[in-house]
This record gives sequence, C-alpha cells and structure tokens, in this order.
Amino acid sequence: MQQSSGTETGVAGQIAMVREVMGRRIAILAHHYQHDDVVRHADIVGDSLELARRIEGLKAEYIVFCGVSFMAETAAILAGPYQSVRLPDMEADCIMAAMAPARRVENVIAHLAGSTGRRIIPLAYVNTSAEVKAVVGRLGGAVCTSANAARMMEWGLAQGDAVCFLPDKNLAANTADALGIAEDERVLLDVRGDGRNVDPVAAGRARLFVWPGMCAIHHRMRTEHVAAARAAHPGALLVVHPECRPEVVKLADAAGSTRRIIEFCEQAPGGATIIVGTELNLVQRLAARHAPDKRILPLLPSICENMGKITEEKLLHCLQKILSECRVTVPEELSEPARLSITRMLEACA
Ligand code: 13P
Ligand code: SF4
Repeated sequence: MQQSSGTETGVAGQIAMVREVMGRRIAILAHHYQHDDVVRHADIVGDSLELARRIEGLKAEYIVFCGVSFMAETAAILAGPYQSVRLPDMEADCIMAAMAPARRVENVIAHLAGSTGRRIIPLAYVNTSAEVKAVVGRLGGAVCTSANAARMMEWGLAQGDAVCFLPDKNLAANTADALGIAEDERVLLDVRGDGRNVDPVAAGRARLFVWPGMCAIHHRMRTEHVAAARAAHPGALLVVHPECRPEVVKLADAAGSTRRIIEFCEQAPGGATIIVGTELNLVQRLAARHAPDKRILPLLPSICENMGKITEEKLLHCLQKILSECRVTVPEELSEPARLSITRMLEACA
C-alpha cells in the first residue's frame, strides 16, 4: 500500500488534500481486488474477513469502503452509531450475491425444512446482501468467508441435521471435499420453484444443500487453463481461490482465501514461478511486489468489473461530498452583515 503525497497534482493530489483537512475523521478501506490507484489511498487493504474484522477498532466517523456493496453493508452493520459507511459507487454490486435474493432464500429453506421435517441450518457466504444475512440470522444460521468456510460448515452441521450453503456452489463443493462430505450426501438445489423440485429421498438424507450460484470471475477458470499453464511453465506452483471450480482446485498446489493466496506467494521459495487463479488486480499487484525474485502469473486474466467501478475519481467525489457535508457554510452575501451583528454582541458583552 502506498500513501499519496500532498505534493501530487490531479485527482491523487486532491484526495490527499481532502484527507489532510479531514484527518482521522475519515478511514479508507480497500479490498485487494481494487485498482492500484485506489489502493494507494487506503488506510487498510484486506480481504473480506480482514476488512470486516477491522471495523470494530476504527475510530473514524466516515468509513469509505472501496469494494462491493455487500462488503460496505457488512461494515455498516458492524460500525458504531456515530459512524457512517460510504461506497464511492452505489452500483458496485457482487454478481454472485445477486444470485441469492432474500425472499427466495427464505422460501427455499422453509420448503426444505417443511418437506423433510429436518433442521436445516443456513450458512451464507459473506458475499450476500444484508437482507439475506438477516434471514440467515433469524433461521439460526451464520455467515462465513472463504477463510473460515470449513470451520463454519462444521459448526452448522453440529447445530442441525443439514446445512444449506449459499450462494457459491464452488466454495460449497470445495469445502465439502475438504471435510470429506460424500457426493451422495450433497444436493445441488434447483431454486427456481422455491426448492419444490428437490428429490425428497435425497433431501431426506442430505447433509449439505448447495445453492447454485457462482462467481463468474473465478468460475471461468477451467482445467484447460491449468493444463496450458503447466505446459508453458513446467515446475510452476499453482494457487487458486476456492470460488474456482472443484476440478480446478483439485489440480492446484493450494487453495484459499485472498489472504491465503498472498501468504502462499510470500512463502514460496525464491526463483519460483507461481500461477495464481484469482482476480487480476491482485495477481498483478503480487507480481509487482515479488519481482524479480519470483515470477507471478495469472491462471487467466479475469477482472471483477464491479470492483472496478470504484475509481480514483469516484473516491475523490465521495470524499468531497463528505467534506461539503461537514463544512458549515454561509452564503457570501450574508456572511459580512451577519458577522457585524455577531461582533456587536460580542463587543457589547465583552
Ligand atoms: P475474499 O473473502 O477472499 O476477500 O474474497 C471475496 C471475494 O469477493 C472473492 O471473489
Ligand atoms: Fe463478487 Fe466475484 Fe466480484 Fe468477488 S470477484 S466481488 S465474488 S463478482
């Protein structure tokens, strides 16, 4: 993470100026998938779990969140009553989160529980709306991230008869593989009829119901890309995000959250070539950080356009809005005569 300097001109310089005026009243948080020109202004850069964890310790009144809406919502849920969370582009949505609308989640789980008579514990990936998290909370479930999905799936299985994991089918399958949950204990949900198309026999014995969502950015990475990368770079290491398909994860040397991917690159031996299967902005930042000691290449150049909606210009605009909201101004034509009346009072009562 670089800090912008006050001597810079243009957008970066203006951001630095606003930050100077506002000081510690503003904290800028950025997810690792953000562009470098946004990341360089951030006080904290992290994956979704790290960013959520850091909210509690923040004293800033304004938390400017450079990420997607579910992350900013999570921050708003965790923030104190005197804090406000700002997202520089309100249309920066996660497409995977949009695949699990709250009403449908509620109906599907109600139907599964009603038709099987079993206690189904919903487990929502943090990539879900606040409405879905509220449904999950009401139904006795919990949230997880890619960093703690296995622990939380075990937790869910201990709470009830089965877990309904949503919305990412790949993270669900990769986590189930890691925990040794057999294929015939899993049911991939057909959510179109609110779960009515689910085979009742399979539903009666399933330990894991899987919502059929996915992240297009990771799902587009296929075994052919792994084969091509391995052929082009013999001896290279491969690390991927668990939102990738299970068949890709099985071919990798390691799979894990964004934090885990960063650590994997740090811990790899000098001279290593590392193929990374995740969002391109992070892969490029890792490549720059470790060059020339290690060579880091993308498994597939894949960009999250929603993360990319946060630009340096929008960050500046968001900061300027905060500044103008905080600044109390009196129109010029009023200030001079008003000042006279105030100073007269102050002088008369001195
Ligand atoms: P992390 O939880 O690893 O930050 O991932 C969030 C995300 O949106 C991945 O696509
Ligand atoms: Fe959502 Fe995928 Fe973008 Fe992550 S990379 S924010 S899961 S669309």
